Amino acid sequence: MKAILNETARDDSTSETTIKQTLIDKYNTSGPRYTSYPTALQFKTNFQSGKFIQALQKKRGAPISLYIHIPFCQNICYYCGCNKIITKDKTKAVKYLDYLLKEARQIAAFSGRLVIKQLHFGGGTPTFISALQMTSLMAELKEIFDFKSNAEISIEIDPRSVDDDSLKILKNIGFNRISIGVQDLNPKVQRAVNRVHSSEDIRGLVEQAKALDFKSINMDLIYGLPHQTVSRFSETLDEIIKMAPDRLSVYNYAHLPHRFKPQRRIQAQDLPSAKEKLTIIQKTIDKLTQSGYQYIGMDHFALETDELSIAQKNGKLHRNFQGYSTQAELDLVGLGVSSISQIDSVYCQNNSDINGYYQSIERQESAIVKGCQSTPDDIIRREVIMGILCNFSLDINAFEVRHNLLFNDYFKQEKDQLVAMVADDLMVLTENHLAVTEQGRFFVRNICMVFDKYQQQEILTTQYSKVI
Ligand SMILES: C[S@@+](CC[C@H](N)C(=O)[O-])C[C@H]1O[C@@H](n2cnc3c(N)ncnc32)[C@H](O)[C@@H]1O
Ligand code: SF4
Repeated sequence: MKAILNETARDDSTSETTIKQTLIDKYNTSGPRYTSYPTALQFKTNFQSGKFIQALQKKRGAPISLYIHIPFCQNICYYCGCNKIITKDKTKAVKYLDYLLKEARQIAAFSGRLVIKQLHFGGGTPTFISALQMTSLMAELKEIFDFKSNAEISIEIDPRSVDDDSLKILKNIGFNRISIGVQDLNPKVQRAVNRVHSSEDIRGLVEQAKALDFKSINMDLIYGLPHQTVSRFSETLDEIIKMAPDRLSVYNYAHLPHRFKPQRRIQAQDLPSAKEKLTIIQKTIDKLTQSGYQYIGMDHFALETDELSIAQKNGKLHRNFQGYSTQAELDLVGLGVSSISQIDSVYCQNNSDINGYYQSIERQESAIVKGCQSTPDDIIRREVIMGILCNFSLDINAFEVRHNLLFNDYFKQEKDQLVAMVADDLMVLTENHLAVTEQGRFFVRNICMVFDKYQQQEILTTQYSKVI
């Protein structure tokens, strides 16, 4: 016990960050996390859902990634920014699953049998639905779509929503990857966000998943939650490292109480300062990289042996709505309330209101309510932004050849901001290469924002979370 206290004390005393307060003040603005470009805020309601169907029809036979959203959760976590419906009424899932399958059949009627290379269940809490419901849902989906024999089939798991048999059943149905929502193991932090579970429960789940040979085990953590400190989060990380998940998502807490009402139950004075948050993530990167994890990019870490790390080393990492992926340019079809789809340069999103979603499906209409068709300029900027997020660098020569343009001419208007970031030691910029510095990694969203045309045009600060 004494040793732990000493360790904690030492940790606090060395927490002085090398990043200057002036830089934090300058760059701690609000900005997107760029799971897409253009971001979802640019999706417009005058989007014609026919464009999505046309794009999908052109891709007949090409493998796709399927996303299925299960919105229900039994309890509210105060920090949550996901699209969810809090209810203890399990019967709600019956109607929802019925409509989900109707939507799947509707899409298949236009596109023919889609070939599924990746299937991800997200939420809300996908394990809100019973094992029996999940078994019959998967059987129906296999009737509607062609699943590749080596398809990645993954699910997000709230540890409070599973019992001793759940993982075994999921494995038998065909799931081969899981992502466990942990967020923080400290009891005080857990109480402040209304999400209490023990380390033992998480450890038990990970051990069971390993014994069942799940191919990839991910855990979600969040930094910036109320009462988190450098030393408390460090203790959580020590526990997690012992469990050795393959991947870790360490999300920056997006505090937007004007958008997400339950966040109003989190007191602003209990939140760590921008400087403390930056120290937490710096120490997290240090600790995880010293423990065999590679820092993949914004929020994400993977064991050096994991295929995400290998893909990054080979310049083959991609980023999409689910974070980082090894699946190059897979089109995405999203089913369910609020789900997003992307086919080539077309993005669209289903109704986020469950009754609106039900009504569209009942009328045998598309559930899509907004979207956008990327312009040639969007595609060029997307490549720069995703390149920076996946590789922390951009090969300017290769980029110029691919798009038949000159970087300095194309990004003339951005030049002053880029020069300022070079002066602030956030990046190195030569004729041929853009490289984010070690310090610049903490401000990678700011760097991407320079290349974001919409960010330059509009004041979007109230819609996005703080960068730090
Ligand atoms: C849909 S939830 C995960 C599945 C399941 N509902 C659970 O909570 O375990 C996806 C993840 O988003 C992250 N998340 C939710 N709200 C967030 C916020 N406001 N800021 C940052 N990350 C957040 C959490 O790490 C959470 O695990
Ligand atoms: S974090 Fe997960 S369980 Fe908690 S409210 Fe959000 S979606 Fe539901």
